[in-house]
Amino acid sequence: MATPEFVGAVGRAVQTRIYQAGALGRRPRVPVSPDRLQRAAQRRMSKAAWAYVAGSAGQQRTAQANQEAFRRWQIVPRMLRDVSERDNSVELFGERLPSPMLLAPIGVLEMVHPGADRAVAEAAAQVGLPMVMSTQASVPMERIARSLGSAAAWYQLYWSRERELVASFVRRAEAIGSKAIVVTLDTNLLGWRPRDLDLGHLPFIRWMGIAQYTSDPVFQDLVRRRAGRPRSATARRAPTPGMVRTLLGLSRRYPGPFLSNLRGLGPLAAVETFLDVFANPALTWQDLGFLRELTDLPIVLKGIQHPDDARKAVDCGVDGIVVSNHGGRQVDGAVASLAALPRVAQAVGGAVPVLFDSGVRSGADVVKAIALGATAVMVGRPYVYGLALAGATGVAEVLRYLMAEFDLTMALAGCSSVEQIDAGLLQDERE
Ligand code: FNR
Repeated sequence: MATPEFVGAVGRAVQTRIYQAGALGRRPRVPVSPDRLQRAAQRRMSKAAWAYVAGSAGQQRTAQANQEAFRRWQIVPRMLRDVSERDNSVELFGERLPSPMLLAPIGVLEMVHPGADRAVAEAAAQVGLPMVMSTQASVPMERIARSLGSAAAWYQLYWSRERELVASFVRRAEAIGSKAIVVTLDTNLLGWRPRDLDLGHLPFIRWMGIAQYTSDPVFQDLVRRRAGRPRSATARRAPTPGMVRTLLGLSRRYPGPFLSNLRGLGPLAAVETFLDVFANPALTWQDLGFLRELTDLPIVLKGIQHPDDARKAVDCGVDGIVVSNHGGRQVDGAVASLAALPRVAQAVGGAVPVLFDSGVRSGADVVKAIALGATAVMVGRPYVYGLALAGATGVAEVLRYLMAEFDLTMALAGCSSVEQIDAGLLQDERE
């Protein structure tokens, strides 16, 4: 894959641009330090958007552990190794990535910025990193793909209760030229998320983050069939002001004329259909065969934390795994994703690529994940904060910062290529 912006020393290019602008009195519009980035984004976002994006499961302990786990491992830099020429790229499923990073699938981006997934795709195109499109995206995948330019599209699948819908999503992903199907396993039910619960706010019920569904012919058929069935208790209840507000919002977003949407309750039927089909807690390893039959694209399982599951995945013939705990959004008090990585990487033993996410906040974090066995990482919340602050420009800036810091950290640690980053570069704080 071509690198539209960077050839060679990314780190110095980004650094120099920022310092030169600084000399002219201009500070970066998107903060570089991860903490300041997060605080600035919080100020810009609505309460509900902040709760949804920054919030995690339960007491947020897994989310905290994800970041703390990076402290345990410390880089031990090596000297005098000529790092003047560097190669930050890695190969993944036959494509060259300019840096070992992908944009993690993140749903409901319309809560953060009106450009949503389109803005993220524009940024991915600018820096040349693959974007993993979410099943809970705010924009249909065909539209996102148009903004991606020559950057790679991957598709993340939430495995619906309706197999025909699964098949339809996969067919559409193939049609837009998706390079891989990422099946997220850790969300066969929605986790217990107190910050959203305290606001009584689930975006999908408000017609946000369901664009892949409403644009899908199989889903539309399910909605039509459902419209003939008795309405749910919520729909039958006497309307409250809150309900009316929600229904007005739904009717505005739903395709078709506003008034007929409001009268026909079509949006409600679609939301109810979504809630019926979204998650499939009955899924087992056997179901993967259905997907294998369906597509020749690489299948990547996201959400693996246990080495036995990693071995099972390889035995099932999948093409890659993502060591992830969904940013701590699903199980509170779970193992930090980075703590799970070494054992999973060892279990996989190089049979398939091992990707990593949950807690990556800096280029140094990327170096550590790679040293512990990851082929590449997925960047999550940081790019959403960039989106909140400055749309596509903000996302691209955050990605450039990560790529730049990765390049410089790699070089300063004495490595001139990603292959040279290995466990020998790290020291365990506990030893
Ligand atoms: C996510 N994540 C996610 N994963 C997925 O497979 N499909 C999805 O639609 C979403 N949606 C989503 C929304 C929001 C707001 C967040 C924060 C996360 C999980 C995501 O892909 C990734 O695993 C985490 O973001 C990694 O954690 P950090 O590094 O962002 O904390």
